[in-house]
Amino acid sequence: MELTRNEDSISRRISAMCQRVRNAKEAGIYFYNMPITELRGGARVQVNGREMGMYASYSYLGLIGHPRINAAATAAVDEYGSGTHGVRSLAGSLDIHRELEATIAEFQGGEAAITFSSGYVTNLSVVSTLVGRHDVVFSDKLNHASIVDGCLLSGAKFVRFRHRDTSDLEAKLKREKDSTSKLIVSDAVFSMDGDIADLPKLVELCQAHGAWLMIDEAHSIGVLGKTGRGIEEHFGLEGAIDIKMGTLSKTIPSVGGYVAGSSDLIEFIRHRSRAYIFSAALPPAQVAASLASFQVIRDEPWRVEKVQDNAVQFIDGLKARGFNTLETETPIVPILCGSDELAFYVTREVHQEDVFVLPVVSPAVQEGQARLRATVTAAHEPHEIDEAMDVISRAGRAVGLVGDPA
Ligand SMILES: Cc1ncc(COP(=O)(O)O)c(C=O)c1O
Repeated sequence: MELTRNEDSISRRISAMCQRVRNAKEAGIYFYNMPITELRGGARVQVNGREMGMYASYSYLGLIGHPRINAAATAAVDEYGSGTHGVRSLAGSLDIHRELEATIAEFQGGEAAITFSSGYVTNLSVVSTLVGRHDVVFSDKLNHASIVDGCLLSGAKFVRFRHRDTSDLEAKLKREKDSTSKLIVSDAVFSMDGDIADLPKLVELCQAHGAWLMIDEAHSIGVLGKTGRGIEEHFGLEGAIDIKMGTLSKTIPSVGGYVAGSSDLIEFIRHRSRAYIFSAALPPAQVAASLASFQVIRDEPWRVEKVQDNAVQFIDGLKARGFNTLETETPIVPILCGSDELAFYVTREVHQEDVFVLPVVSPAVQEGQARLRATVTAAHEPHEIDEAMDVISRAGRAVGLVGDPA
């Protein structure tokens, strides 16, 4: 029997998703892709014509709109134009690309660095460039989707270990002891939970089992360590990671991704990564904005201290108000709700009082683990954080998630 296009599984998938979105919109519990018209330095935003406190931003150091960064981006457009008309390997490499890569290498403590057009593409391409069919890649179960996709694309044996469970990883490494090449990949700070990878133990296991270590610093640059240099600085383990990946889209208010490591590693990736060889270079404005951001992080060290203090205030305050914030130690603060519905209802209540925070539901997190994924940044003042927590608390009580304060 022939299938018509209306009956095939592609059509069914499309209509099931559209129906789910329509239902959520009709019930007033669809919060995604909301039009933001003003970012106002990161602490406040204009959403659908309403000014709201921003608690969903990854601009951890509050650098969006920083005058030095904006000026650098504008000057780059004046000097080079808006694009590079090609891939880096051919006519697309500018002097500022090299300058940015040298700056990243220095900041991350690597010999060299290479940039890509997004963080997602960086993970996808770097993992699949480094490992292949006869290798094994070990990945934390809660690693970012871009790492998972890189592992799948690589064709390597894909072994997932329980979240931050280094005993499970060790057992799995032992099982693969005969394989020639092994790569362990982990987020530094987990994007949905805010907890930190056990770097000392990962390094120890890599040494014991002859494995390479790749760490995704998307949420740790500017956030961990006294000067914001990330997870190595946090644990005092400078130079311990072989492959340090990061993005230019969160703490750095631009777009793009990068990897830092040894000169040979970077040279290899520059000549083997398909995303580098076959995709256009980062545009000049984004490169210049990124360069200026690293300079600002160096020149304004108070920002790192402030985001760390704000995270402590936010986590402690929410716990005191009865919320479960899992194991977070960083500005990413999950506020556990349980069911998807409860997460949507809390969000709706919170939005009514002009606090902008978003729910994360299945399948992005395990069923029953739906949450608000709230963040604080260096742009927030302590009194604003207190007010936002009171709003979240009222919402939590209204839907029965937490009880009345003692
Ligand atoms: C841990 C992690 N890695 C990589 C990425 C991808 O980075 P980008 O958004 O710059 O493509 C993200 C983005 O959310 C992330 O959270």
